[in-house]
Amino acid sequence: MPVTYMTHPLIKHKITLIRKPETGSSEFRKLVDEIAIMMGYEALADLPTKNVEIMTPMEKTVQPVISGKKPAVVPILRAGLGMLNGILALVPTAKVGHIGLCRDPETHLPQEYYCKLPNAIGERQIVVIDPMLATGGSAVAAVNLVKAHGGKKIKFLSIVAAPEGVSALMAAHPDIQLYVGCLDHCLNEHAYICPGLGDAGDRIFGTD
Ligand code: PRP
Ligand code: URA
Repeated sequence: MPVTYMTHPLIKHKITLIRKPETGSSEFRKLVDEIAIMMGYEALADLPTKNVEIMTPMEKTVQPVISGKKPAVVPILRAGLGMLNGILALVPTAKVGHIGLCRDPETHLPQEYYCKLPNAIGERQIVVIDPMLATGGSAVAAVNLVKAHGGKKIKFLSIVAAPEGVSALMAAHPDIQLYVGCLDHCLNEHAYICPGLGDAGDRIFGTD
């Protein structure tokens, strides 16, 4: 499926702000939350609806509501947690799964340390969230896990991506829908995105 790149000026503006080193954790978290709301709004535009009969103060009418099983939101720990509240603001009844992955500093390969996903995941729209798509190793591993548990309809939301990560994820999982806030230039020798924003987990949680 084609990759969707965000074009809204408000998303672009807020991504510029989170790149600045002087943006502290509190402001960084707020901006990531706002970006996630805007990206989620775009990515969830095809949620299915059904018509139901309701009563207004004036009369009976038939109107649309979201249909089907509740969606599942799956943040990749830790940094994906920064986008969770934004997506839950849009879909408050969504189920939440967690996938814990941490990149080995030498090999840059993801190490799995946790996985807990909602039941009946094969019947749900799944939204995997992680602000950073660098080599793509973590994203590929996360989608592997979701599929191994039966997940089928998968959207992946990433705020900043490197071309290498987009290629790796779409080569491994061409059936998913990928939404990218901004496509950056390249990876450096430590597999960090350039210009990027540094380590997203550290910036969200104030660690280093
Ligand atoms: C970061 C980021 C992604 C991953 C991207 O997590 O949040 O999960 O790196 O890199 P990749 O595309 O090369 O796999 P990290 O492993 O630093 O863990 P953290 O969120 O706990 O800091
Ligand atoms: N993980 C991050 O948090 N930032 C990068 O640039 C690459 C991986």
